[in-house]
Amino acid sequence: MPVRVAQRNADIAPFLAMEVMERAFAMERDGIDVIHLEIGEPDFPPPPAAVAACSAALSAGETHYTDSRGLAELRDAIAADTERRCGVRVDPGRVIVTSGTSPAMLLVFSLLVDPGDEVVIGTPHYPCYPNFVRVCGGTPVFVPLDPARGYPLDVASVRAALTDRTRAIVVGSPANPTGAIQSAQTLRELAALGLPLVSDEIYDGLVYDGAKVTSALEVTDDAYVLDGFSKRYAMTGFRLGYLIAPEPAVRTLQILQQNLFISANRFVQSAGVAALRDGAASVAAMRDAYDSRRKLLVEGLRGLGFRVEALPQGAFYVFADARGFGEAATDSVAFANTLLERAHVGVTPGRDFGEAGEGWLRFCYAASEDKLQEALARLGPVLGELGG
Ligand SMILES: Cc1ncc(COP(=O)(O)O)c(C=O)c1O
Repeated sequence: MPVRVAQRNADIAPFLAMEVMERAFAMERDGIDVIHLEIGEPDFPPPPAAVAACSAALSAGETHYTDSRGLAELRDAIAADTERRCGVRVDPGRVIVTSGTSPAMLLVFSLLVDPGDEVVIGTPHYPCYPNFVRVCGGTPVFVPLDPARGYPLDVASVRAALTDRTRAIVVGSPANPTGAIQSAQTLRELAALGLPLVSDEIYDGLVYDGAKVTSALEVTDDAYVLDGFSKRYAMTGFRLGYLIAPEPAVRTLQILQQNLFISANRFVQSAGVAALRDGAASVAAMRDAYDSRRKLLVEGLRGLGFRVEALPQGAFYVFADARGFGEAATDSVAFANTLLERAHVGVTPGRDFGEAGEGWLRFCYAASEDKLQEALARLGPVLGELGG
């Protein structure tokens, strides 16, 4: 029976990192050993205190709905953690706890975007940003980020992209897929454009060489900060995130949350409290491991013939220019599929991150050094045959 699908879905592309992962899972069910460098998922366990708190909450029967905005204890802890990390005092009343950062994005774009409105996004970009805008009937407007300059969001280009329909500017810092961190100066100049900043800060804390992340909260009151526990605390499967919004927006966001999601999981919120209380050592250990892995991976990829301009400053990805492989790399989806099928290494096609990413591949280094070495060893011969 044909299904009549609403037209707006036609513009929503598949999330290619997930597509590769799902293909890899199918290969694993057939007994093939695949190394996963495609999905942005820490290979570390969550902080032990988070697991213990989650189990204890379940055992204690804490299995009910919570306040739609989240447990007061967790909102207080998130406000205190935000102040610790970026030095800005945040009223816990501005925090809304969500089932991952992704639902927080839906809340924000639902709040800000009417059909026909525009949202400015630097590209290459996290694949889902434009799709959240499209789901709300809006149009993403892309501003290219220059790899040779370290992917700064060029304020003059953003200004030139603004129209009377622009409703927000998206900032991802540290960014997926590039690892780039936007400077305090860039954030200040973006804020001065007078539009809300939707700032995805989910990779804050996973930065290297003493880099400092500036939060949008430091430069404007008109900031919507998206954050969560998936990356920093290796808690992807818990599905726990949050949004920090300007006070006047909270009531509408609360109403949206009540209707769309009711609340985040009760016992998972207890895990969040424990992660914030006791997780710092786990985060530091993971960051140190990522730091040495990124060097290993960048060196290895360069050795294989990829072009990597600079060491990524944050997050856990290397965005590598594969165009040196000629014809084989022109279609990054086909290229990634070939590498999965022939080398049994999952990587993400650059196209996932926008047209600017075509001809590139993203490699995630949230995998052990042994796995990274093995992946490089598997890729070498296949790339050799493809013309590296
Ligand atoms: C930049 C960015 N934002 C948000 C998310 C989604 O995070 P969550 O698991 O909290 O929904 C991801 C996941 O890869 C991401 O890379």
